[in-house]
Amino acid sequence: MILEGIFNTIHMLHVNDLQTTFISKKESVTAVDGVSLRIPKGKVVGLVGESGSGKSVTAYSIMGLLPAHAKRTGEILWKGQDLTTLSDKKLQSIRGKEIALILQNPLAALNPVFTVGNQLVETIMLHHQVSKEEATARAIELLKRVQIPDPEKRFYQYPHEFSLGMCQRVMIALTVSMMPELLIADEPTASLDVTVQAQIMLLLKEIQAQDNMSILFISHDLGLIAQNCDYVYIMYLGHIVEEGAPSAIFHNPQHPYTQALIHAIPDPNPDNKMETLPIQGDIPSPMNIPKGCRFHTRCPKALDRCKTDVPIMQKKGDSISACWLE
Ligand SMILES: Nc1ncnc2c1ncn2[C@@H]1O[C@H](COP(=O)(O)OP(=O)(O)OP(=O)(O)O)[C@@H](O)[C@H]1O
Ligand SMILES: [Mg+2]
Repeated sequence: MILEGIFNTIHMLHVNDLQTTFISKKESVTAVDGVSLRIPKGKVVGLVGESGSGKSVTAYSIMGLLPAHAKRTGEILWKGQDLTTLSDKKLQSIRGKEIALILQNPLAALNPVFTVGNQLVETIMLHHQVSKEEATARAIELLKRVQIPDPEKRFYQYPHEFSLGMCQRVMIALTVSMMPELLIADEPTASLDVTVQAQIMLLLKEIQAQDNMSILFISHDLGLIAQNCDYVYIMYLGHIVEEGAPSAIFHNPQHPYTQALIHAIPDPNPDNKMETLPIQGDIPSPMNIPKGCRFHTRCPKALDRCKTDVPIMQKKGDSISACWLE
């Protein structure tokens, strides 16, 4: 079995029934509601869903980087220890060193007033006990590793002298310099054009395989996820609605939401006349969550029961999904 196969390996991360609520005087918003996911060692796990489904909040919840008005419950087991119970100091030593986060916009994460080399050297010296000379040599090595041409020259340049794709490579170099065991990549290619997206994805996978790193890859692009991940979670309005191996998700999707996401992927072959069905309507606000199955208001196959009863995750076909349809 593919599912058992991938999970027979060691789990680095096991998120269990995570719920994250933003509390305000007016209204509280539960952006992530009962999410469970597992990330095995050395595997790439994908998390897909439309804008507003709670992907980033899941990432920030795992990292412990939520704002003060957020309340998080559930377990976040990292190599067996629950991150939600650790002190800030302990958490800080895990963050960056063991678990690192790459964000969508590399420019926001790089400091415009320091050279790229300077930022790399600082990060390396923060995480490893090495001299400045050694850190400089390592930084240039890293720029080479992320395939930045002319690394000795680029080392002395500022972020604005790099293209967006090159900046994302620098961010990957910065992150890799910390040698994390788990990398959470939150839409790392979303701001890039399609060819650069593919190059960055390839680069991440290469580094992942060389270092036997685990990756949680977050995207709204199911095509990109299915091509590059070992296991996929589909998220809708704070819930996981389907999970499985990419082949099962792609070729035999069970949940109407997954089916709609697949139909929405443009077919690059113009001769293929497969009908693409847009998902109807917008994702509801988490302040106004539909009763029963959260997807029923947009589901073309909804039954009466879907409006009242919350479906639970169960094995159907080759994946696990939460849907009342037979
Ligand atoms: N700091 C916050 N305070 C209140 N609500 C928030 C906060 N951050 C996120 N939310 C809400 O949580 C929900 C999920 O947001 P999230 O950013 O996780 O979505 P996403 O799946 O990452 O979407 P995208 O694809 O656009 O990045 C949204 O409705 C958002 O408005
Ligand atoms: Mg997001």
